Amino acid sequence: MIEARGLSKNYGTLKALDNLSLTIGPGEVFGFIGPNGAGKSTTMKILSCLLRPDAGRASVCGLDVRTRGDDVRRVLGYMPDFLGVYDDLTVDEYLQFFAAAFAIDRRRRRATIDGVLELTDLVEKKHSPVDGLSRGMQQRLGIARVLIHDPKVLLLDEPSSGLDPRARIEMRELLIELGKMGKCLMISSHILSELAEMCTCIGIIERGRLLYSGSIKEAYARVRGGERVTVRLEPGGAAAAQVAEALAGDARITRASVADQSLTIDLAPGNHGHHFLFEMLCAAGARIDAFTPEEVKLEEAFLRLTTGAVQ
Ligand SMILES: Nc1ncnc2c1ncn2[C@@H]1O[C@H](COP(=O)(O)OP(=O)(O)OP(=O)(O)O)[C@@H](O)[C@H]1O
Ligand SMILES: [Mg+2]
Repeated sequence: MIEARGLSKNYGTLKALDNLSLTIGPGEVFGFIGPNGAGKSTTMKILSCLLRPDAGRASVCGLDVRTRGDDVRRVLGYMPDFLGVYDDLTVDEYLQFFAAAFAIDRRRRRATIDGVLELTDLVEKKHSPVDGLSRGMQQRLGIARVLIHDPKVLLLDEPSSGLDPRARIEMRELLIELGKMGKCLMISSHILSELAEMCTCIGIIERGRLLYSGSIKEAYARVRGGERVTVRLEPGGAAAAQVAEALAGDARITRASVADQSLTIDLAPGNHGHHFLFEMLCAAGARIDAFTPEEVKLEEAFLRLTTGAVQ
């Protein structure tokens, strides 16, 4: 459904995209993850015909974005990271405007708009002014807008940004619903864990380069086991540096780093039992104030696996 080969884009001397290739198949929900400035929005703008690449080619549903722009726009819905809403329009008028812009048959407009309002849970806001909607509602309106012409492919640029936890959950449910409807989705985010549950595959981008592209399952397999324990020490026992030294060399421990009176200990993959660690700490003379095991966050592990260009 989406194919990009060797895309490059420069802004002046800045390489925003560097030879980026990716493929997204039908029915896939693709999570596009990367830190600020990685090139996510640039990629999406190229795919939605708003920006010309300097090199490479891209197609949506087999249609070249450079030569078949009008046809691409018919099969694609793009929601930018910032939604420009117009003053003095109600939700309904706003959607009527886009229905007209997409040349939806007049007789079908009412039913189409009611359908997307229902799906995005905005029925009650139908007659509210758009500029008075909360951020979460505006984001849902943005999705309603790109669904008007029933596109097969949706590019959603950070649909969850700026939302509170409840609105995030609602957004996730809406995105899952769209996936179930058989839409091909490309969703960008900074936060991998936010997308992990609903995506069938992910791409990690950093400094304009795609570092990983594949299934979530494979992504987890690559970083599995990297568990971390944080230990805070009480004064009066052995110093943190001394304890770290005692832990060094044990095959079950990859790294022990020291900050003030705390230790951050990374366990080697496959080590989940913490008893051994607790015993080693005690044997080293540590007086333990707090012992906190945590799963390494997937994105953190990825950053470690990859170049580490962005901290
Ligand atoms: N119109 C522009 N002119 C100049 N530089 C730009 C322009 N648009 C983007 N850039 C630069 O290109 C790089 C990639 O930007 P892009 O917006 O694609 O990143 P992003 O992954 O979407 O980041 P964010 O998570 O902050 O939205 C950044 O370094 C950015 O500063
Ligand atoms: Mg962006």
